[in-house]
Amino acid sequence: MTLAVQLRDALRRQIEEGALLPGTRVPSSRQLAVDLGVSRSVVVEAYEQLGAEGYLVSQRGSGTSVAATARTEVGSALTPEDRAPARALRDLRTGGSDVSAFPRQEWIRCVSSVVSAAGQRELGYAPPSGLPVARHTLAGYLGRVRGVRTRPEHLMITSGFAQGLALLCRVLRDRGHDTLGVEDPGHPGEWKFIADAGLRPVGIPVDRRGIRVDELARSGVRAVLTTPTSQFPTGVALDPERRAELVDWARSVDGYIVEDDFDAAFAGPSQRMPALQSLAPDRVIYAGSASKVLAPALRLGWLATPTELTAPIERLRAGWDLGCSGLEQLAFARLVDTGAFDRHLRRLRAEFQKRRQTVRQHISRHLPGVTLLGGDSGLQAYLVLPRRCAEEEMVQAARRRSVLVRGGRFYALRNDDRPPALVVGYAGVRGAELGRGLAGIAAAYRDVIG
Ligand SMILES: Cc1ncc(COP(=O)(O)O)c(C=O)c1O
Repeated sequence: MTLAVQLRDALRRQIEEGALLPGTRVPSSRQLAVDLGVSRSVVVEAYEQLGAEGYLVSQRGSGTSVAATARTEVGSALTPEDRAPARALRDLRTGGSDVSAFPRQEWIRCVSSVVSAAGQRELGYAPPSGLPVARHTLAGYLGRVRGVRTRPEHLMITSGFAQGLALLCRVLRDRGHDTLGVEDPGHPGEWKFIADAGLRPVGIPVDRRGIRVDELARSGVRAVLTTPTSQFPTGVALDPERRAELVDWARSVDGYIVEDDFDAAFAGPSQRMPALQSLAPDRVIYAGSASKVLAPALRLGWLATPTELTAPIERLRAGWDLGCSGLEQLAFARLVDTGAFDRHLRRLRAEFQKRRQTVRQHISRHLPGVTLLGGDSGLQAYLVLPRRCAEEEMVQAARRRSVLVRGGRFYALRNDDRPPALVVGYAGVRGAELGRGLAGIAAAYRDVIG
């Protein structure tokens, strides 16, 4: 069977099974050929055959889409009713990013120009804190898009946020801290990093206005890790009053706030606020990452530190590793400087907004009694289930419907009586796959609540 025939059959199956809905635009032949690593003529031939069979329609200027009249087994991927469970597992656990959107061509262009121009210096060791030119670009960028108030010499390029967090915890420990406040619910992987670095993570509750600053003040910690733009995993934004209270708290205990801003690029209009760091650069350590905005494989992250922490972190880093790849830093700086990064983020932001909207509509249509926390940000949706819907049963029922998803408990540090919840990660699944996953969740919900 030729590649074109295989592709045609796969697409036809997706249309017939309702994974690709009538009206859905399919990628351009050029884009799909790049994504699949085949020649463009293969995709063109498959599209032409599907056009002749009435599955696809092409319109000049608006691309190719699934025909409104295409034969489908089901009306909508979101209303599965009694569809047989699909064989493949749909992974809606958090942690993924949309690597299929990685701007390959732009990245290749940046790497190519950086490598072509690289001299002795660029091919040698970069300073452990990062190349000055990359830090300069990054400082300008963060100031422009996030309002971060820093200077290149107070920025450190790290191997992802993970390394930044590990470095910070050790510096805090050296400065007399033995605990670090963390949001609860939060990120269990980070708690392990924190504990391995010698600090005890202390869970601070989160409500619909973000982290509870009153509880933080009662906890006795003097430093806290927080995701104020879009709390992970609830998606709620820290409201302006609490932002001010949090900064006041840090000043009152002579402490620090670690602002994890890893997914702020995708904040929707209602949650777009300057970084918390802009309110108090002397108290907030700002941390960012390329993992969600580009790809985790780059292992690129950054920290903007208050002045007195810069030297201790640099000293620690110097004995830790010999810095991140200089060529990668230069390629990233070039992506930013040429505007390609902004363009890529605009596309990705629109895509994630669309997916969140899909989840929201799905909940209101197919999950009665379920509420979505948070506004229009985040890469996951925190679904609060009715009390009578046992969380673990829901997770297992979803699995029987071929959907991998986590319950709220997975993200909880303290053992308290919180409402059952489901956390649906939508960063790593494109439209049709998300539709199928949500359909599986709706079916599982009906299985559980009867
Ligand atoms: C809460 C949170 N912060 C930050 C990150 C980014 O981490 P890293 O840069 O080490 O990939 C992630 C990645 O999944 C995350 O979930």
